[in-house]
Amino acid sequence: MKQGGTTEKTFVPVGLRERPYMNEGFFILDKEKAMRTIKIFDTTLRDGEQSPGCSMNVEEKVTIAKQLAQLGVDIIEAGFAISSPGDFEAIQRIAREVEGPVICSLARARAGDIERAAAAIADAPRKRIHTFLSTSDIHLEHQFKMTREEAKARAVQMVQKARSYVEDVEFSPMDATRSDAGYLYTVLEAVIDAGAGTINIPDTVGFATPEEFGALIKGIRENVRNIQRAVISVHCHNDLGLAVANSLAAVKNGAGQVECTINGIGERAGNASLEEVVMALRTKGGVYDADTRVKTEEIMKTSRLLTRITGMQVQANKAIVGANAFAHESGIHQDGLLKEKSTYEIISPESVGLGQSQLVMGKHSGRHAFRSRLKEMGYDLNDEEVNHAFERFKKLADQKKRSMKTI
Ligand code: KIV
Ligand code: ZN
Repeated sequence: MKQGGTTEKTFVPVGLRERPYMNEGFFILDKEKAMRTIKIFDTTLRDGEQSPGCSMNVEEKVTIAKQLAQLGVDIIEAGFAISSPGDFEAIQRIAREVEGPVICSLARARAGDIERAAAAIADAPRKRIHTFLSTSDIHLEHQFKMTREEAKARAVQMVQKARSYVEDVEFSPMDATRSDAGYLYTVLEAVIDAGAGTINIPDTVGFATPEEFGALIKGIRENVRNIQRAVISVHCHNDLGLAVANSLAAVKNGAGQVECTINGIGERAGNASLEEVVMALRTKGGVYDADTRVKTEEIMKTSRLLTRITGMQVQANKAIVGANAFAHESGIHQDGLLKEKSTYEIISPESVGLGQSQLVMGKHSGRHAFRSRLKEMGYDLNDEEVNHAFERFKKLADQKKRSMKTI
């Protein structure tokens, strides 16, 4: 390992290596390589709240938004202003009280929605309107009863209207992954000309695979004439369990913003999980040449706050924030870990705000971890006593359903 940095071939667990140093907005992990900084657009309070059973009141939304600012996200989508008086009030309070991130409201491509969104975010020092309209024939025919040309004209008009209130406008062609690519390019070109600074590509129904989604982003970069005037954002749903993989494929192909939620909550199977996207980029910097500004040490605190407020439990084996994400039960793994952490840990628990990893004592645990645990508990046994106690422990563990957490 090189001192103070990494090379592509060198494996250094996150949190154990020295922090990359900053240079004019780029993270540099290695002297020759400039890292792109990917913007994190958090939509926990909008798409996340669309998760059945995850409604939050105004006070709860403000509390979460303050923690998201601590976490260091770039943009907070605070809600959908026209959807309810409570959502309007929450966005307005967040716009007034939360410092740091850009505060954004969602708005359909309708004049009334845009006016309401503009009013809700008016007091934010940095504000964005995010407007959207479908581009897929399935949606246009069956839901919106619009032709392609009508939809494009409406999108342009509403982006212009949003620009009359704020400088920062984002446009999403809903159901982009089931849209005709040629038509999609023309809509994107038109909304960028109308003043959209971010074009967000949603995989609304979670239909894409990483290969397809990466190719779509590449196609947009190569075929949309004015694409260099906008940031390409992505918004992936998890219906096939691919939301994070699709978001990473998009980053690899030039996306500069990822939309995601804490704990991956969101409509149906949820959105790309913020903690997974962020830690994948931090851990695999050499693969993506990209990082974010997120303070990863705040991840656990944010995840637990959301769980406490919504009552929506995180599955135990969920990556990064699940109860078992840093718990090791097998004897072989525990033995390696006690000798050297990097044998079985690619991320240090401290780097996501957890005290330390857990050695869980269960039927698969080994003598090494057992002896170490006895020592911690103040028992200094000789080899014979340890062997005897270990045999009895194994018999007991065989009968128990739940393992015993030790740390
Ligand atoms: O999934 C989706 O398409 C959305 C849009 C509003 C961006 O949430
Ligand atoms: Zn969505």
